[in-house]
Parts: sequence; C-alpha cells; structure tokens
Amino acid sequence: MIRNFLEWLKQPMGRIAVLIAALSFLSLVAFGIFYTQQSPEQPIQFTHQRHIGFGIQCLYCHPGALRGPSPGLPTQTKCWGCHQQMQITNTSPKLAVLVNYVKNNKPIEWVPVSQVPDFVHFTHRPHVAAGLNCEECHGDMSVVEIAENPQVMNMGWCLNCHRERAGDDQEKLIKLTDCGTCHY
Ligand code: HEC
Ligand code: HEC
Ligand code: HEC
Ligand code: HEC
Ligand code: HEC
Repeated sequence: MIRNFLEWLKQPMGRIAVLIAALSFLSLVAFGIFYTQQSPEQPIQFTHQRHIGFGIQCLYCHPGALRGPSPGLPTQTKCWGCHQQMQITNTSPKLAVLVNYVKNNKPIEWVPVSQVPDFVHFTHRPHVAAGLNCEECHGDMSVVEIAENPQVMNMGWCLNCHRERAGDDQEKLIKLTDCGTCHY
C-alpha cells in the first residue's frame, strides 16, 4: 500500500498532486498570518500619531488605565469636545463619520486589538502603580497610524517581565508567577 503510494508519487501526476497540496497548505498559512496581523476595520480612521503628536495625554482618552479595571476606549463625546470647535471637522471626510455618530447619538463601536483571553486576569492598575510606562507594553503609540495587534501578549511575555521585576525577592517571585495570580 505505502509502496504503491510512493511509486505513484514518482509519477508526474503524483508530483503535481504533492506540489498542489504543499502550495495550498502554504497559502493557508500565509493567509492566516496575514489575517491576524492586519489592523481591524475600525468605524473611524483614528490615528494615534496625529493626536499624540498634538500633545494629548494617553490618560485623557484612556482614563480607566489608572482608575477602572480597563483603560476603556473613548466615546464620541470625548472626541466631540475638541472636534466640534475645529474647522477640519467640517471638511474632513474621515471626520464626517464622527459627525454622523454624534448626530445620530450612536455609540462608536471600536474593535479592540490588544486583548488577552477571558480566562486571564489582567488589570492595568498594579502595573501603572508599579511605575511602568504605557510604552513598555504597547510600544511607541506616537508613531502608530491605525492600531494593530502586536501579537506579543502571551503567557511567556507576562512571566518574563514578572520574573525580571521580582529580582531576588522570593516572596514576590512566588506571587507574580503563581498560576492563580493570572488564572482564576
Ligand atoms: C484634545 C483634542 C482632540 C480630541 C479629544 C480628539 N481629537 Fe481628533 N484631532 C485633533 C487635532 C488637533 C487633529 C489634527 C488637526 C489637523 O491636523 O489640522 C485631529 C485630527 C483628527 C482626524 C484626522 C482628520 C483628517 O482628515 O486628517 C481624525 C479622523 C480625528 N481627529 C478623529 C478623532 C476621534 C475619532 C476622536 C475621539 C476618539 C478624536 N479625534 C479626539 C484633536 C483632538
Ligand atoms: C485622542 C484620544 C486618544 C489618545 C490621546 C490616545 N488614544 Fe489610544 N485609542 C484611542 C482610540 C479612539 C482607540 C480605539 C481605536 C484604535 O484601536 O485605534 C485607541 C486604542 C488604543 C490601543 C489599542 C486598544 C485596543 O483596543 O487594543 C492602545 C494600546 C492605546 N490606544 C494606547 C494608547 C497610548 C499608550 C496612548 C498615549 C501614548 C494613547 N493610546 C493615546 C484614542 C486615544
Ligand atoms: C504591563 C503591561 C501594560 C502596561 C504598562 C499598559 N498596558 Fe494597556 N494593555 C495591556 C494588556 C495585556 C491589555 C489587554 C487587556 C485585556 O484584554 O483585558 C491592554 C489593553 C489596553 C487597552 C485596550 C482597551 C481596553 O480597555 O481594554 C488600552 C486602551 C490600553 N491598554 C492603554 C494603556 C495605557 C494608556 C497605558 C499607560 C497608562 C497602558 N495601557 C499600560 C498591557 C499593558
Ligand atoms: C513589563 C513588565 C510586565 C508585564 C509585561 C506584565 N506585568 Fe504584571 N506586573 C508587573 C509588575 C511590576 C507588577 C507589580 C508587582 C508588585 O506588586 O510590585 C505586576 C503585577 C501584576 C498582577 C498583580 C499581582 C498582585 O496580586 O499584586 C497581575 C494579576 C499581573 N501583573 C498580571 C499580568 C498579566 C496577566 C500579564 C500579561 C498579559 C502581565 N501581568 C504582564 C509587571 C509586568
Ligand atoms: C503572569 C501571568 C500568568 C501566570 C502567572 C500564568 N499564566 Fe497561564 N496564561 C497567561 C496568559 C496571558 C495566557 C493567554 C495567552 C497565551 O495563550 O499564552 C495564558 C494561557 C494559559 C493556558 C492556555 C494556553 C493555550 O495555549 O491556550 C494555560 C493552560 C495556562 N495559561 C496555564 C498556566 C499554569 C498552569 C500556570 C502556573 C504554572 C500559569 N498559566 C501561570 C498568563 C499567566
């Protein structure tokens, strides 16, 4: 049976079949990689680069990073606070979308990109309290046009930093690497 199959593989048709199988597998993999690396389609083409470049603080738009369980994504009220007074709001097609949301009083449904699965317990508060900067985990957002999934927020990433931060403090090391600290 196996020998027959090997014989068949040596035939031109067999080789072509193998080639096709290999190519379709590769293109599936390539598609998968492309698909997960892409920025999601956001309701508004919001750019971090322009806003941060203008000097707006992260916490102005993501105040929950200090206070709540999650940083939160801004509502149109926050955007409108600035944009209703700006000339560009009446002329930019990108901002026409925002005007529409405000007019119809419809919430903007941002698509989250950096996320950990539900079975992981992550809150910003202890991290920000320990003096970590946003950049240490999110990279330099001031160069980001449309936010992408950085694809690094896995368990090894969390544990590496926790081990590093614990240093020689055994008690801290145990707490920060205990399964129950991040999983319920
Ligand atoms: C603190 C003020 C402020 C807030 C809040 C703010 N923006 Fe802006 N926005 C700006 C400034 C300043 C510019 C740059 C204007 C320019 O280049 O002339 C800008 C530019 C933009 C542009 C680019 C327009 C174009 O055609 O290039 C978009 C889109 C935009 N903002 C969307 C938003 C959205 C959505 C929100 C809410 C999440 C928001 N902004 C919140 C000040 C603000
Ligand atoms: C003017 C408002 C504004 C400012 C200032 C701002 N952001 Fe954002 N941020 C947004 C909006 C709107 C989104 C959702 C759309 C998107 O993902 O691009 C977002 C998304 C994000 C995301 C991706 C969240 C997700 O869903 O995965 C990260 C990370 C982030 N911001 C970090 C930062 C950091 C760090 C700073 C400061 C250096 C900052 N932001 C400053 C408005 C802002
Ligand atoms: C120790 C690493 C770390 C630091 C420091 C950090 N973040 Fe995050 N951030 C994360 C992780 C992990 C997630 C995904 C959380 C989830 O899925 O619940 C996230 C999610 C977000 C989101 C997505 C929106 C939401 O509410 O879930 C925003 C916005 C954000 N962070 C902004 C910030 C800002 C602003 C700062 C600085 C004040 C900051 N982060 C500091 C790791 C970090
Ligand atoms: C860049 C470094 C860094 C990364 C990345 C990081 N952490 Fe942390 N984490 C810390 C520091 C520092 C503390 C505070 C330790 C202390 O109490 O002094 C902390 C504390 C915590 C705590 C609170 C522990 C407690 O009970 O006091 C939890 C939960 C936690 N991290 C979960 C996570 C998860 C989940 C991830 C990955 C998604 C993650 N962390 C990624 C540095 C990091
Ligand atoms: C510092 C935080 C942290 C600690 C401590 C931690 N984990 Fe995780 N774990 C994560 C994150 C984040 C994910 C989700 C991302 C991923 O799959 O890597 C995860 C995913 C997992 C998964 C699912 C893997 C998968 O492929 O879907 C298992 C199982 C798991 N952890 C078991 C454990 C066990 C057992 C321990 C204790 C030895 C532990 N974790 C300690 C953060 C942590």
